[in-house]
Amino acid sequence: MDVEVVGRVLSTLPQDDDHPYRTGPWRPQTTEWRAEDLEVVEGEIPADLDGVYLRNTENPVHPALERYHPFDGDGMVHVVGFRDGKAFYRNRFIRTDGLLAEREAGKPLWAGIAERPASSPRQDGWGARGRMKDASSTDVVVHAGVALTSFYQCGDLYRLDPLTLDTLGKAEWGGAFPYDCGVSAHTKTDPRTGELLFFNYGTDEPYMHYGVVGADDRLSHYVEVPLPGPRLPHDMAFTENYAILNDCPMFWDPELMTKGLYAARFHPELPTRLAVVPRRGGRPIQWFEADATYVLHWVNAYEEGDEIVLDGFFQDSPEPKDTGEGGLYRRMFRFLALDRMQTRLHRWRLNLVTGRCTEERLTDSITEFGVLNNAYGGRRHRYTYAATGLEGWFLFDGLVRHDLLTGTEERFGLPTGVYGSEPAMAPRVGSSAEDDGYLVTLTTDMNDDRSECLIFDAAGVADGPLARLRLPERISSGTHATWAAGESIPGWRDAESPAQALRL
Ligand SMILES: [Fe+2]
Repeated sequence: MDVEVVGRVLSTLPQDDDHPYRTGPWRPQTTEWRAEDLEVVEGEIPADLDGVYLRNTENPVHPALERYHPFDGDGMVHVVGFRDGKAFYRNRFIRTDGLLAEREAGKPLWAGIAERPASSPRQDGWGARGRMKDASSTDVVVHAGVALTSFYQCGDLYRLDPLTLDTLGKAEWGGAFPYDCGVSAHTKTDPRTGELLFFNYGTDEPYMHYGVVGADDRLSHYVEVPLPGPRLPHDMAFTENYAILNDCPMFWDPELMTKGLYAARFHPELPTRLAVVPRRGGRPIQWFEADATYVLHWVNAYEEGDEIVLDGFFQDSPEPKDTGEGGLYRRMFRFLALDRMQTRLHRWRLNLVTGRCTEERLTDSITEFGVLNNAYGGRRHRYTYAATGLEGWFLFDGLVRHDLLTGTEERFGLPTGVYGSEPAMAPRVGSSAEDDGYLVTLTTDMNDDRSECLIFDAAGVADGPLARLRLPERISSGTHATWAAGESIPGWRDAESPAQALRL
């Protein structure tokens, strides 16, 4: 392994930090690495695994004003690239406006999710509620050959070179980027059309918008999706002809908002509302009502006859009870644990003719952060790959492959003390079947103080990894990940090796 330190960022976090999401498996990094020809600890890197796995991370540099929440951490992206049976790794902080301003100041300048916006030293900022730092640490996708990182509460989209992870600037879309509302955490890319679908939300009417960016990186469609009030949608889905947006009955308490406080409350007496929005306009938005819940992540949607089939994770307990045990942190972070929220794979069927919605639970297992072979995005899929959560924590302790045709599931549990990342499905070069490919994830191993990249056969998750590769340093647990095939990345084919591509 050929390893080089390419950067270091000065951290002002306390040496004796005791915050549960800034220590242990969430210990942030300050070093930026570049490693070529990663050491293969076990197995072999498949020669037909070709492309990059990218993962975003909340990696704070400064303490919070008062109360740190992991969603406040500065964005850091990790990339592992595979070509010709070899792999390279790189990690970089995203050079957000907020990171640069705080680096200059040497301290935090904006209030986080668990703090009052009014306490922000800076008057400006980002986020649906305003006066927050856009840390761009939530998701990462690749569109038009560029990696885009996003912020959970709406902000800019930062453009990164998917190989070097250099920050190239912010999405502008020919000057049409919706700077007033930003873009939400989760956008969707449609590999068939090359489009990027997105939404945003805010505290002013109409409270939500939906838009489309073409393969040419220009905004081609942008419409209002009026809501009854400010809401907190996190994710969306799409089919061949529709985008699916949502109005879940968990939103900021309107009365507290008038006092400058932003506290989400669940309203079990209200329905979950699902919007079927024509992808390119032309027809009215159709709304459906379903059982009350909060859906953090959808997996996919597709059209079947008169119906839209929508899969996502239903929460039985969107507002977990405060048991009063375990102190402030345990109370604050009960919203992050899959077992507390009771997240289960669920299917909604929206009948476009009758206007009715029927729904069913697909499994009793508690999983979340579900992904699929992206070539099946918007089309009928059979497999969902998801993470299992460590009890009480925002940590992933295993992988599950849900087979939605047979209703069966295959599991791989990580050893105690080893935590995974959201996996990504990497179709094998020349693949013909939905599960003909690999699952890639990164680990944080607290037993051996190291991190690895694990590669699984997507059709044999329970068999354990086909290969384990060592990263230069133990990385922090993180958020969302994606896969981009080499052929979708400019410069990938022209280079003789991934290392050369890195230098292009
Ligand atoms: Fe998310």
